[in-house]
Amino acid sequence: MNTKFKRTLVTAALPYANGPVHIGHLAGCYLPSDIYVRYLRSIGHDVKFICGSDEHGVPITIKAKKENISPQAVVDKYHKIMGDSFKGFGISFDIYSRTSSKIHHQTASDFFKVLYEKNSFTEQVTEQYYDEAAQQFLADRYIIGTCPKCSNINAYGDQCEQCGSTLSPTDLINPKSTLSGAEPVLKQTKNWFLPLDKLQPKIKSYLEKHSDWKSNVFGQCKSWLDTGDGLQPRAMTRDLNWGVPVPIKGADGKVLYVWFDAPIGYISATKELLPDTWQDYWKKDDTRLIHFIGKDNIVFHCIIFPAMLMEHGDFVLAENVPANEFLNLEGEKISTSRNWAVWLHEYLKEFKDKQDALRYSLCANAPETKDNDFTWKDFQTKNNSELVAIFGNFINRTLVLTHKFYNGNVPEAKTFSALDLEALKSLAEAPDKISAAIQQFKFREAITEWMNLARIGNKYLAETEPWKLIKTDEERVKTIMNVALQISCNLAILAEPFLPFTSIKLFNLLNIKPINWNHAKQTNNVPHPHLINKDELLFSKIEDSEIEYQLQKLQKSKIMNENIKDAQAIKTETSFDEFSKMDIRTATILEAEAVPKTDKLLKLLLDTGIDKRTVVSGIAKYYNPKDIIGQQVCLLANLSPRIIKGIESKGMILMSENIDGELSFVSPVKANVSNGSTIK
Ligand code: 2FM
Ligand code: ZN
Repeated sequence: MNTKFKRTLVTAALPYANGPVHIGHLAGCYLPSDIYVRYLRSIGHDVKFICGSDEHGVPITIKAKKENISPQAVVDKYHKIMGDSFKGFGISFDIYSRTSSKIHHQTASDFFKVLYEKNSFTEQVTEQYYDEAAQQFLADRYIIGTCPKCSNINAYGDQCEQCGSTLSPTDLINPKSTLSGAEPVLKQTKNWFLPLDKLQPKIKSYLEKHSDWKSNVFGQCKSWLDTGDGLQPRAMTRDLNWGVPVPIKGADGKVLYVWFDAPIGYISATKELLPDTWQDYWKKDDTRLIHFIGKDNIVFHCIIFPAMLMEHGDFVLAENVPANEFLNLEGEKISTSRNWAVWLHEYLKEFKDKQDALRYSLCANAPETKDNDFTWKDFQTKNNSELVAIFGNFINRTLVLTHKFYNGNVPEAKTFSALDLEALKSLAEAPDKISAAIQQFKFREAITEWMNLARIGNKYLAETEPWKLIKTDEERVKTIMNVALQISCNLAILAEPFLPFTSIKLFNLLNIKPINWNHAKQTNNVPHPHLINKDELLFSKIEDSEIEYQLQKLQKSKIMNENIKDAQAIKTETSFDEFSKMDIRTATILEAEAVPKTDKLLKLLLDTGIDKRTVVSGIAKYYNPKDIIGQQVCLLANLSPRIIKGIESKGMILMSENIDGELSFVSPVKANVSNGSTIK
């Protein structure tokens, strides 16, 4: 550890409060930061761990509109779900705050005022789309229109999701406001910009001092600086009614840009946590500030936020930004909107008390240098073949044998053989190897070293065979079991940052109060005499059926997405003549009964106003026969008759099908439409 620094402030990206958190979030940001912080705490370093919900921005207002609730209700809901998920996985924030809090609004507002008074901003008037009916400027996402590249009629003002093009709202053909449906008009508006172009030399020199950052991070920063004309001014205020109001005159109806206020959230949360000493963590040069983030946040944490802090002048800048790449799921990008994700709150319910199994698998497979893939099969293998078969097996054998041979009393080690000394040497060397990896943010390597120590333990037992020796050399067995118990105890110490739940359980089994990392090089942490607790399994196998269930859940999302796509794609053109060949009539259901030996079909007797006829319809999953007597429906009356399950069906009832594949009747809105009326 660099001794220049007396304390470390670790921040983890504030997740948007517009949806729950998933494994990608955990692997990309919250797990590595938690491991790092737990490690620093364990070596006795002064560290604070800051996070909270990012509760502003356009996506939250869109979600609120969709759900017909207020933006505050949206963020209240997800702040709770996210906070509970983090707690459930043992993410040990010192504070999990939120940006809709009063302290944050005040802090962000004051920060903006300082920059404003220092003339750090430039004022620029630009033309933005405005909805005259709703009387408000429209964020890019509030405008839809036809994509100029692929003709998708539902492209957003910032992106076409069909062809992936990045767009500007003015690129759209036939733009429409999603608020009122009206065609938006261009209107001038003033906003405050951070002139990143002018700040570029300062930012460049800051970044050049950190060429030791992870290459994915440093590379991305350099390309921002070196591509095209370099950095461009960026608006720090927006015309929106949800966020921190711009604290100056003439800025009514404007709020701070969400990426201006969110990182200030780190400062406000520190203030909230440490009302008296927060300044030590933000203003003293011997503080080390580390931002853990995912790769989509790099520019904001390595360029824009440092530029804001430089302009302000009071605060330290990040010493490192160990951003991870993305985690994919079963070969596809994780997507909230397509429900292609493993949600943490669901995992916690479905895999009770198995938080460490996921922590292990995500850390061992972390997307540290490139995007990585999470598969359920790999998760199962890591659990069953590593946690259960290597680590769990070693601990279990050690505890069971100690009980069997010595009734749980720790035996004394008196003399050591070469094999014992070799095992103890590996034990003493492990902490430094793991520390070095953690300090370089190489958490995969660190957890691999930890598992290697369990491997060494297993090999040691396999080579010394205490179960055989017990009959011939009892003194040796005492040493062997003592050494195995020392390895177990140090595995508990070293597991703490990665597998905190397991670490506590293991200390408990050993009947030892948790010991910190500074004792991990000692090879006599388990005292003699000492009685250990009864053995219990630390990990259990994950069955194929559990994995199958998860894969089926994903399959369902896939089917639903296909349905959405189908529902969105309009069929090829048809003519009016073709359409008018269909004779669609209103009719009333007189009788309904299930068709025997099927679970989908109902046999219906319909009054068409012209005749009474039988129709077989595949709606049994959605309607109970007794509930639909008297229901008026629309019937395709001239469809050729068909024999279905031995019944002649004359016509087809029209149904609407939603994206979940659920069917419901289509019927006239007015109650007095007589049977036999035509539908055109
Ligand atoms: O990507 C995100 O989820 C952002 N809400 C991260 C914000 S990090 C910080 F600046 F607060
Ligand atoms: Zn397109």
